[in-house]
Amino acid sequence: DWTMAAFRQEMIEKIRKQVGSGKVICGLSGGVDSSVAAVLIHEAIGEQLTCVFVDTGLLRKNEGEQVVTLFRDHYNIPLIHVQAQDKFLGALKGEFDPEKKRKTIGRLFIEVFDEEAAKIDGAEFLAQGTLYPDVVESVSPHGGPSTVIKSHHNVGGLPDYMKLKLVEPLRELFKDEVRALGKELGLTDAFVGRHPFPGPGLAIRIPGEVTPEKVKTLQDADAIYLDEIRKAGLYDQIWQAFAVLLPVKTVGVMGDARTYEDVLALRAVTSSDGMTADFYEFPWPVLGRCATRIVNEVRGVNRVVYDVTSKPPGTIEWE
Ligand code: XMP
Repeated sequence: DWTMAAFRQEMIEKIRKQVGSGKVICGLSGGVDSSVAAVLIHEAIGEQLTCVFVDTGLLRKNEGEQVVTLFRDHYNIPLIHVQAQDKFLGALKGEFDPEKKRKTIGRLFIEVFDEEAAKIDGAEFLAQGTLYPDVVESVSPHGGPSTVIKSHHNVGGLPDYMKLKLVEPLRELFKDEVRALGKELGLTDAFVGRHPFPGPGLAIRIPGEVTPEKVKTLQDADAIYLDEIRKAGLYDQIWQAFAVLLPVKTVGVMGDARTYEDVLALRAVTSSDGMTADFYEFPWPVLGRCATRIVNEVRGVNRVVYDVTSKPPGTIEWE
């Protein structure tokens, strides 16, 4: 009988056999896949594993801290937390083109990861949270960086750490199975149930130039949106929900004063694999509450709109 508990045991044996007494480095994205891979590998080989978490400054609100807390404090897994916010935001300055933004982020990600990996003496293996759909078909249809580091290598030449042998324990699994395995390993429902998040992060949810101020605005608005979705009990019905900060200002009125501020678009879709998706049919009162709270609580936003495009013809992300 095939059960998650049996799979867990089987994978642990397999990882031990592959790795022996070698050292493994694992790139954490903050997402579910790489987190589950890391926890599984840690259970198999303990201190032989070191995780590298690159904070790009383009994560959801408080997400960086959550990852660090989970790995360092809860699991006691050796973790290198690279604060690369300034590097990424600096490189994105003046960049408006969606593909160039993606390429820049992909290139920096490799650079930073490579630098850190090189400091781990005698590392022989690179662990990744590659899933079955990643193997069959890329989840980065726009050609941007995946949360899977290996797929960066089609951006340029093979980086040094590609000499490392790959450890990919989730290669046979689909997303729902990874979530089940995560629960089996003791990760909370809230953690494993989190919506997918793209490698280039919030940069592709800020059409046009990315600035630290816009990232902060988007993080705040996005957090309110997700908070209202959770409070309404709708989070698990939705494949992915997020906000997009538009490079458009419109006129509004606040008290008895005219305002001229940014427009925020809300997106939510249902999907089974992200390849096709339908826009989510929100109950209107929930959307209304999101709009009211965002305009009241987030400085610089005075209008909220909802994206009712399905995929195809729209993509899930806006860039
Ligand atoms: P699109 O926008 O193509 O997105 O409909 C489909 C799914 O893939 C995610 N996505 C990415 N994930 N790196 C990733 O790891 C990327 O460059 C990337 N681009 C899109 C997106 O969030 C959605 O779940």
